[in-house]
Amino acid sequence: MTVDLPLIQEAYQRIGPVVHKTPMLHTQQLSQMTDCDLTLKAENLQITGSFKIRGALNKVAWAAQSSPAGVVTGSSGNHGQAVAWAARHFHLQAYIVVPTTASAAKIEAAQSYGARVEQYGTTSRDRLERAQTVAQELSMTFVAPYDDPLVIAGQGTAGLEILEQRPDVQVVLVPIGGGGLISGIATAIKSLRPDIRVIGVEPLGAPKAFQSRRQHRLVVLPETDTIADGLKSLALGDLTYPIIERRVDDLVTVDDDEIRHAMELLLSRQKILAEPSGAATLAYALRRPEQLRGRKVAAVISGGNMDLPSLCRIIGMA
Ligand SMILES: Cc1ncc(COP(=O)(O)O)c(C=O)c1O
Repeated sequence: MTVDLPLIQEAYQRIGPVVHKTPMLHTQQLSQMTDCDLTLKAENLQITGSFKIRGALNKVAWAAQSSPAGVVTGSSGNHGQAVAWAARHFHLQAYIVVPTTASAAKIEAAQSYGARVEQYGTTSRDRLERAQTVAQELSMTFVAPYDDPLVIAGQGTAGLEILEQRPDVQVVLVPIGGGGLISGIATAIKSLRPDIRVIGVEPLGAPKAFQSRRQHRLVVLPETDTIADGLKSLALGDLTYPIIERRVDDLVTVDDDEIRHAMELLLSRQKILAEPSGAATLAYALRRPEQLRGRKVAAVISGGNMDLPSLCRIIGMA
């Protein structure tokens, strides 16, 4: 199965009637602060609070045809919630492996959708391996968080919406964890409008795409350290790495203080609650880089799942 425009268009036909077409919010205040014409793609307002439902629903729809035992995944939280929601939508059992460090809000949300949640290990590799073992033991379908054509195609539907909602966009900023979201969005956008620049944003403490491009190989980081838990993966995937190399124009990093500042501005000026991973793209724009100046920019605010104590701690209100 190849990740291409038809696969993303098929995904949109399948999931479009179920997911929200999230708003593209134009912001004058933040446009002034970033020296560009800025629109926010508000995936924090998506079902389950992040874009992850797009890919999960597309994959679980496929699994529902052949996998009555249910679906299993390993996720830092948002993908787990999304798989849990999608499984319930298709009347399947979901089994979610989350790290021992996952926030209470993310665990409770998955449980509230009827999923069985297991806390295991701390790295993405730990929980993905555990989830694959569970998949074999219980004959469930494994739903990868990013390295799966159907998941990537589902995430790409956000790219189709950006083009439809803001056809005059010139630059699209997308956060990178394992690279599923940007692989899908970049495939959609570059297939239809190769003139639009797609820029990937990573935390300085988890620069796997940035390092991979510099070293011309798929780099596996020994460790990662950032408040952006959704962007913490140690490496891109075997599928996402070549797509990013081919389709993404530039890769940049932002530090945790820049992310905190962006979260604070989104909340105080725009009344938008973004989690750290969701605020990374604005963090980059706030640096007023030359490549954004005066241009029409869409920043993907990829998620907003955050419990209040963590929010207060992160933006220094506690
Ligand atoms: C809110 C949020 N943004 C971005 C990402 C990164 O997505 P991907 O792993 O597809 O690059 C994640 C992944 O969990 C996330 O939860």
